[in-house]
Amino acid sequence: MARIIAGVGSSHVPAIGAALDNGKTEEPYWKRVFSGFEKSKQWMAQAKPDVAIVVYNDHASAFSVEMIPTFALGCAAEFPPADEGWGPRPVPVVKGHPALAAHIAQSVILDEFDLTIVNKMEVDHGLTVPMNLLFGQPKDAWPCPVIPLAVNVVMYPPPTGHRCYMLGKALRKAVESYPEDLNVVIFGTGGLSHQISGPRAGLINSKWDKSFLDNLTRDPKKLTRIPHIEYMREAGAEGIEMVMWLIMRGALDDKVDEVYRFYTVPASNTAVGHIILENRRKAAGKSRPAGSGKTTTSKSKTAGKSRQAAARKGAHRIASKGTR
Ligand code: DHB
Ligand code: FE
Repeated sequence: MARIIAGVGSSHVPAIGAALDNGKTEEPYWKRVFSGFEKSKQWMAQAKPDVAIVVYNDHASAFSVEMIPTFALGCAAEFPPADEGWGPRPVPVVKGHPALAAHIAQSVILDEFDLTIVNKMEVDHGLTVPMNLLFGQPKDAWPCPVIPLAVNVVMYPPPTGHRCYMLGKALRKAVESYPEDLNVVIFGTGGLSHQISGPRAGLINSKWDKSFLDNLTRDPKKLTRIPHIEYMREAGAEGIEMVMWLIMRGALDDKVDEVYRFYTVPASNTAVGHIILENRRKAAGKSRPAGSGKTTTSKSKTAGKSRQAAARKGAHRIASKGTR
């Protein structure tokens, strides 16, 4: 049986990709951002997922504004990097997992989530930047196949947070009904608070972002009740990208272990948020990353709790350096 072992939330600021591609990662401005992902890369190298599902949004690269599916599942064998105005990014072509993707499409659509099936698609910074942050900048190939799930957050109306959370649950059911023994990590990308244009351009709301991250771990159902207007008011027009994190969260256990968190302001116009949440259930068969929440005893539950507290403390310490 396939299983989702963990969820990763990460911003996808395009300038992070440009900093990588143009050798600027050691500049102090960018080092502050990249240093927050060093531990995450180690975690990912240990987790070694067999497949990653990356929930992201296309920024009018693959779909343009002429046609915008609400939820589009990438079922192709490969997804080349899109040309976003400076030529395609120098990252490897993203290889898909057509068999699992087709299985997910069948399961989720028969579960009454009407996904769009996409058999040809280029992927933009929304997908490639979080991949870089967690997998580094490989020369030839990404370490695992990827199933992209593109969500409309660029043209009104995007899906509600609740719909996203419920789609996450349907994705989990789909993954768990796939017979092959696969460890899957799911990414929720975008956000956190940012507004790119208009009189409020540059808006960042760290307090709101941090409360979102706290609730993502502890009380995600509360987040599912946030209306679009609140995201817009509190986190800026582009802050609506945060609904995608609820797909990732919906695909996890109700209780998870927060094993890492990072928050810094700003990168380009955006508050960079990042979180790693592990499912607690003991995986059958395949091995799990060290520090994974295999909790059945009260002792290990306490360990999980103190890890979460440490993660939150770390986040605040890091955030206080760069928070406006
Ligand atoms: C920026 C952030 C985004 O999420 C995006 O898609 C485009 C630009 C920015 O901060 O500049
Ligand atoms: Fe974006």
